[in-house]
Amino acid sequence: MVHPTLLYDTVFPAMVTPGDALVVRGLRKAYGDVVAVDGLDLAVRSGECFGLLGPNGAGKTTTIEICEGLLPRDSGDVEVLGMTWESEETRLRERLGIQLQDTQLSEKLTVEETLRLFRSFYDAGREIGEVIEIVQLGEKQSARVGSLSGGQKQRLAVACALVGDPELLFLDEPTTGLDPQSRRQLWSLIEEFQSTARTIVLTTHYMEEAERLCDRVAIVDHGHVIALGTPVELIESIAETHPPPPPKASSATLEDVFVALTGRTLREE
Ligand SMILES: Nc1ncnc2c1ncn2[C@@H]1O[C@H](COP(=O)(O)OP(=O)(O)OP(=O)(O)O)[C@@H](O)[C@H]1O
Ligand SMILES: [Mg+2]
Repeated sequence: MVHPTLLYDTVFPAMVTPGDALVVRGLRKAYGDVVAVDGLDLAVRSGECFGLLGPNGAGKTTTIEICEGLLPRDSGDVEVLGMTWESEETRLRERLGIQLQDTQLSEKLTVEETLRLFRSFYDAGREIGEVIEIVQLGEKQSARVGSLSGGQKQRLAVACALVGDPELLFLDEPTTGLDPQSRRQLWSLIEEFQSTARTIVLTTHYMEEAERLCDRVAIVDHGHVIALGTPVELIESIAETHPPPPPKASSATLEDVFVALTGRTLREE
C-alpha cells in the first residue's frame, strides 16, 4: 500500500484552501454503461502546476473537459477560480486557456489567422506576434495549418490556449508526439507561464515531464484519485512501500510510483 499520508481520501478534507483555483468534489460522469469519472475529488492551488496522471481511459480528459465547461457532469461540484459554470460562464470563459487532447484546427487558415480567431474570443489578451514568438512558429506565421507538422500543430494549439492571457491554463497531453527539442521548448514555455504565478492543470504520460514541471500530481485510476502529492513525496513513499524490486528512494522515479499503483497490465479502452 502507498504511504498512508498520501492516501487521497484521508487527506482530501484538509486539502481545500480558500482561493484554490480549481475544486472538484464527488465528480461523476458515465457514458452509457462506461463510468468514466467515479467520485473524483481534487483541489488545485492557485499558482501551482498540477499534474493529472493515469493510464489510458482513467478519466483524465473527461474530468478536465467537465472543468473546462465543455462537458456536462452527472453529479458532483466543480468550482473554477471561485466560480461555477452555471452562474458565471461568460466571466469564467474569459479567464481560461484550453488546449484539448485532440485539437482540430481549420486546415485552411494560416497560423496567424488561427490565432486572430482565438484572440477574438477574448476581450483582453496577448499580442498575436508575441504568442507566435513564444511557441517559435515565426517562420510558419503565414503557413496554412494543413501544411504544419504534427508537432507544429501541437504548438499552435498551445498558442491558442495562451492568446487570451489566461489565469488558469488547461493542457491535455501538450507534449504527446513532440520531438525532444519541441518538448523542451514547451516545458520552458510552461515554466515561464508558471513563473507569473498563474495556475496550470496538465495531463501527461511522460513521468519525467511531470517530475520536472508539476508542483503536485494526482494519480487517477478508474475515475478517481488514488494518490496525491509532490513528485518527491510520491517517489519516497513508493520506495518505502513497494519492495521488491525495491527502487531505492535515491533511484526511484515517478514512473515507478505510477506502475506500482496502477499495475502493469494494459487497459482495455
Ligand atoms: N464520448 C465518449 N463516449 C463513450 N465513452 C467515452 C467517451 N469519452 C470517453 N469515454 C470513455 O470514458 C473513459 C475515460 O476516458 P478519458 O478520455 O476521460 O480517459 P483519459 O484518462 O483521458 O485517457 P487517455 O490517457 O487515453 O487520454 C474511457 O473508458 C473512455 O473509453
Ligand atoms: Mg485523455
